[in-house]
Amino acid sequence: MQVVRSPQELQEYRAKFQGSVGFVPTMGALHKGHLSLIERSVKENDHTIVSIFVNPTQFLPGEDFEKYPRRYDADKKICELAGVDLLFMPQKEDIYHEDEVLVQAPRQKGYILEGHFRPGHFDGVLRVVNKLFHIVRPTRAYFGKKDAQQLYLIQKMVRDFFWDIGIVPCEIIRDRDGLALSSRNVYLTPQERQKALLISKSLKRGAKLAQSGQRDAQKIKEEMLKILEPLDVEYVEIVDRNFNKIDKVEFGNTIILVAAYVGQTRLIDNIWL
Ligand code: PAF
Repeated sequence: MQVVRSPQELQEYRAKFQGSVGFVPTMGALHKGHLSLIERSVKENDHTIVSIFVNPTQFLPGEDFEKYPRRYDADKKICELAGVDLLFMPQKEDIYHEDEVLVQAPRQKGYILEGHFRPGHFDGVLRVVNKLFHIVRPTRAYFGKKDAQQLYLIQKMVRDFFWDIGIVPCEIIRDRDGLALSSRNVYLTPQERQKALLISKSLKRGAKLAQSGQRDAQKIKEEMLKILEPLDVEYVEIVDRNFNKIDKVEFGNTIILVAAYVGQTRLIDNIWL
């Protein structure tokens, strides 16, 4: 596995690749969720490139940019063992320039739900992902369904900018107790971790209600909120695959989303129906 820092160097190695190139952009602190994306890319492509870059522009002032877990040595090992060909680990100055031409998140769908509670977050995400796509020129790029709105907006950016890249949505990976894997789970104390389980529990309850005939989104949200009562909930929402709020669950076209604080840690999770 080759580890490179500069975009130019990455492009030199990339130019030598023949066949398809799978790309897994990450912010590091790799866990089994990331590993599932990497393994899928390795399986489906001739070459796999992973990037590790804690992107400053997607963190709002006061968020956890400084303390975001950084585990570069462990991450390198994970990538190497998983069969990654090229690991891209740029620094801020390799990616960002002064007075840049900007890519922005759409003013509506980029500013609801996650974008409402973290205004500007998706501007930073799309800004960096667009740059990474330009640098890496992947055939396919792999994203987890846990960041469902991010996935939707990246799919939208690919359409809006006529990128010829296949976006591959990958299933949420959970711990045995149901907690969706996230690099931020390391912030949780053992007690908080127990409390955090209420999030996946509420989603399971929502799904079960829908499956047993309750299609009214409001009623499902009310039941879920009862379970989430001990947490500091930011939103429970039911949307279609295009992130329009819906009144009735429609199987094959519904996502139930939750964002909540457990102590100081903000967690998101969702379930696709
Ligand atoms: O999902 C993430 O880890 C990040 O938002 C991404 C896509 C790597 C962009 O920084």
